[in-house]
Amino acid sequence: MKTTIAKVGQFVDQEVTIGAWLAGKRSSGKIAFLQLRDGTGFIQGVVVKAEVGDDIFQQAKNVTQESSLYVTGVVRAEERAPSGFELTVTKVEVLHVAVDYPITPKEHGTEFLMDHRHLWLRSKRQHAVMKIRNEIIRATYEFFNDNDFVKVDPPILTGSAPEGTSELFATKYFDEDAYLSQSGQLYMEAAAMALGRVFSFGPTFRAEKSKTRRHLIEFWMIEPEMAFVEFEENLEIQEQFVSYIVQSVLKNCALELKTLGRDTSKLENIKAPFPRITYDDAITFLQEKGFGDISWGDDFGAPHETAIAEHYDKPVFITKYPTSLKPFYMQPDESREEVVLCADLIAPEGYGEIIGGSQRIHDDHLLKQRIEEHKLSQDAYQWYLDLRKYGSVPHSGFGLGLERTVAWISGVEHVRETIPFPRLLNRLYP
Ligand code: 4AD
Ligand code: MG
Repeated sequence: MKTTIAKVGQFVDQEVTIGAWLAGKRSSGKIAFLQLRDGTGFIQGVVVKAEVGDDIFQQAKNVTQESSLYVTGVVRAEERAPSGFELTVTKVEVLHVAVDYPITPKEHGTEFLMDHRHLWLRSKRQHAVMKIRNEIIRATYEFFNDNDFVKVDPPILTGSAPEGTSELFATKYFDEDAYLSQSGQLYMEAAAMALGRVFSFGPTFRAEKSKTRRHLIEFWMIEPEMAFVEFEENLEIQEQFVSYIVQSVLKNCALELKTLGRDTSKLENIKAPFPRITYDDAITFLQEKGFGDISWGDDFGAPHETAIAEHYDKPVFITKYPTSLKPFYMQPDESREEVVLCADLIAPEGYGEIIGGSQRIHDDHLLKQRIEEHKLSQDAYQWYLDLRKYGSVPHSGFGLGLERTVAWISGVEHVRETIPFPRLLNRLYP
């Protein structure tokens, strides 16, 4: 019976055949242990010379790392195996012999591994991170579909710059100037006026000259947008969503979290509601903590965010930032015009901001004024202003950065390991 490693549990004590690669091996004169992987999982194949005979044993012993194989064997329940099963090998058919696979079991430096990212992806650790990424995406679609959101795909080539003009990738669009999308938000606002509650999931681009463990040049963002939803309800939806994906990963990726050595007790606690702290109080808190360099009106850097996050065991919303620190489209607080109805969600354990969101301006005069103040072209935003001319409603939305969320939930230090082929400052290869 041909099957996969993920499904061997259905065939205990039966003979199966698996298409696999050799991830590693150990052997003595009488017994060989083959570490097999097939993409769905990892399993150990045990080859006993006395049982398979000389030829098959020698063949198994000589297989090189990352050679591709058809392995036939009997599935055994094995408590000590991480997956709970082992394969007693009866036959090995070598499909392709890999020679001198560069990523050996010894330690390699990060630059070397990044140069070999196309192969590094095969490692147990990278496999686990990609499976968790996939589970977060799956749970995202499930959460929004269950809550009556419609998936909408905003364009990647755009004429607008929602998050400011300093970090744009410009390109030619025939005779016009175009940019790679830095956020689908403005289009999602139009979609929300058509479909009520919408979400997008797609790549976004920031030409940021930042070389930190939280920054990618190309990253994937989930951007929900909701008509008739105001500031507080926006936060409630965010905390429900984030709790949902964390609990889904705990439920469906236990093996991967174990492979990564993730302390899951820290994740079990991630359930709505999340704490909220105003920007004002965050400034006071930081000053009391000894950050003498920060005062009202300043933006937070990574050390500030980490200090605030460390105070809580759940993600924390920092709300109502000064208007001057945020993009043009955010709704001012009615009782205090110098702050906007926004929130950043800061992940625990130093992973930084995973969500940026806000209520949007729905008054067309105020929006026009903001567009002028930010020196944006009225022409380019005419369609966006139309949304305030025809049936304008209070509305809100947010953007969750997928890679930072994967890093946090997986417990991996750097976002470069959370996307298959990271685009970083000075890295466009492989
Ligand atoms: O805070 P940002 O810039 O918000 C927006 O783009 C809004 N238009 C979203 C919206 O309201 N629809 O980005 C949102 C999130 C951040 O919180 C962070 O998680 C992630 O996107 N992010 C990055 N992730 C990796 N590398 C970068 N360079 C990132 N920049 C932002
Ligand atoms: Mg932000």
